[in-house]
Amino acid sequence: MAQKNNDEQFKNVISHAKEYGFVFQSSEIYDGLSAVYDYGQLGAELKNNIKSYWWKAMVQMHENIVGIDSAIFMHPKVWKASGHVDGFNDPMIDNKDSNKRYRADQLLENKIDELYAELNNFSTDNKTKFQEFQQEILGLSDEGQAAWIPGFKDENDILESEKYPFINEASWRFVKKGLALEVEMNLALKSENLAQLKDLIVDYKVICPISKTSNWTDVRQFNLMFSTQFGAMAEGSDEVYLRPETAQGIFVNFLNVQKSGRMKIPFGIAQIGKAFRNEVIARQFIMRMREFEQMEMQFFVRPGDDKKWFEYWKEARLKWHTALGTAPEKYRYHDHVKLAHYANAATDIEFEFPFGFKEVEGIHSRTDFDLTQHQEFSGKKMQYFDNDLNEDGKPYGNYVPYVIETSIGLDRMFLLTMINAFEEQDLSTEDKQDSRTLLRLHPALAPYKVAVFPLTKKDGLPDKAREIMDTLKFDFNCIYEEKDAIGKRYRRQDAVGTPFCITVDHQSLEDNTVTIRHRDSMEQERVAIADLADIIGKAVSWKNLLA
Ligand code: GAP
Repeated sequence: MAQKNNDEQFKNVISHAKEYGFVFQSSEIYDGLSAVYDYGQLGAELKNNIKSYWWKAMVQMHENIVGIDSAIFMHPKVWKASGHVDGFNDPMIDNKDSNKRYRADQLLENKIDELYAELNNFSTDNKTKFQEFQQEILGLSDEGQAAWIPGFKDENDILESEKYPFINEASWRFVKKGLALEVEMNLALKSENLAQLKDLIVDYKVICPISKTSNWTDVRQFNLMFSTQFGAMAEGSDEVYLRPETAQGIFVNFLNVQKSGRMKIPFGIAQIGKAFRNEVIARQFIMRMREFEQMEMQFFVRPGDDKKWFEYWKEARLKWHTALGTAPEKYRYHDHVKLAHYANAATDIEFEFPFGFKEVEGIHSRTDFDLTQHQEFSGKKMQYFDNDLNEDGKPYGNYVPYVIETSIGLDRMFLLTMINAFEEQDLSTEDKQDSRTLLRLHPALAPYKVAVFPLTKKDGLPDKAREIMDTLKFDFNCIYEEKDAIGKRYRRQDAVGTPFCITVDHQSLEDNTVTIRHRDSMEQERVAIADLADIIGKAVSWKNLLA
């Protein structure tokens, strides 16, 4: 039931986003382009405000972080050095009956979830014990993990009950099979053993959700980068890629920025920009897109200080999220047990979307991998001379800095913000049925900060309202509306998250006061026109989020 309500809520958010001009399907009149979206008039405002919040928090509030804007096209060698040409692949498999293509690991993950669903039959205590045990297994070496598999798969095994206090649970058989599959899948992915992935799909009887058959092709690697030709003529011109992440634009500019900005370690370089990935399974609206935007920051530190800064950014980034007023329990960290080859620590910040906890942001301790790779591929030194003194009183000298990366998807943050703000309120009384749809956006993020309404279209009220609008519009994004009854106008602004509505009435002409209505409480108060800028300014100030 809860699932159904969540699905319903998600659908409502998507249709609300379209109805009010936040997000449209790209090229909709041609039936759309899959996993590509356009931001409408209010979506563009909200998106810009999220960007500003991030930029202010990361760049303006840190004396040692600067922002850049690097090009989408980069030298093809960049992607060779970064590992994307050889390693940015998804293992794909086709079902021969439905002709549908799937990510092999996602098919297996769904199977794992199905087997783990039996955990719901465990007692709370045993569930926790199992989860601790699972973490312990996944933290072992590859050989250590592999050694456990036969026991997990044997349905009639005699496992020592002191090791598994939950052994008597009837569902244990399924759960341990889930763990075996999780371990086997991880090992196959790590060794890029595609035949093994196919075997797992067959052995665990994974079927195509469309054809319901297990008539599968082999698993093949599919690179996620989009490529195109550079230069006027296709022949003889170089293949270039649309960047799959903004981070590499920062790495290749590391020395340019460090030298021209006289930056001293530790320091950061931030940027916001488009990234492109040919996602095979694109779904859940703007959650997984083929063209999307990232807000990334690479923080360059002295080797050995990386763990400390990783912890710092982990905490700082979660604070950035919760400062918006989101309930803290909606967020959680997901520490990676298995790390990418270049990372020595990684965590995701996950948000509870209607379809479950999903990653919004990644914080990665990337060691000196990227700069070292670029040093090797370009033949240019990527080193920093640190003349601070170490414990022995000698300069730290030359080194390739270590990097902590914070990487958040702007579109995912946008979706999170819409979902979190969307509320359908029942305002019915004994006498009357009533309701409203509300976007409870933080005032600093709201597309319009203030709506100005003349009570009626006559008696000079529109002129007075325009006069107010003309003074406020320099500081705030305002909207003027005179059509429809005042109640209807209020509801429309509630639905797009406008925190304040100002109504000009006949009294305004006499004493220069207006009513100001507050979106969330719907309370109205009479205030002097001269005080409006101050009242609105205080509510929408970035200081509320950043101080
Ligand atoms: N430079 C590191 C990097 O790109 P990532 O985990 O692949 O790491 C970072 O991506 C963030 O970018 C994710 O947490 C997510 O919010 C966003 N992201 C990644 N792929 C996306 C997609 N296809 N559509 C929308 N957002 C995406």
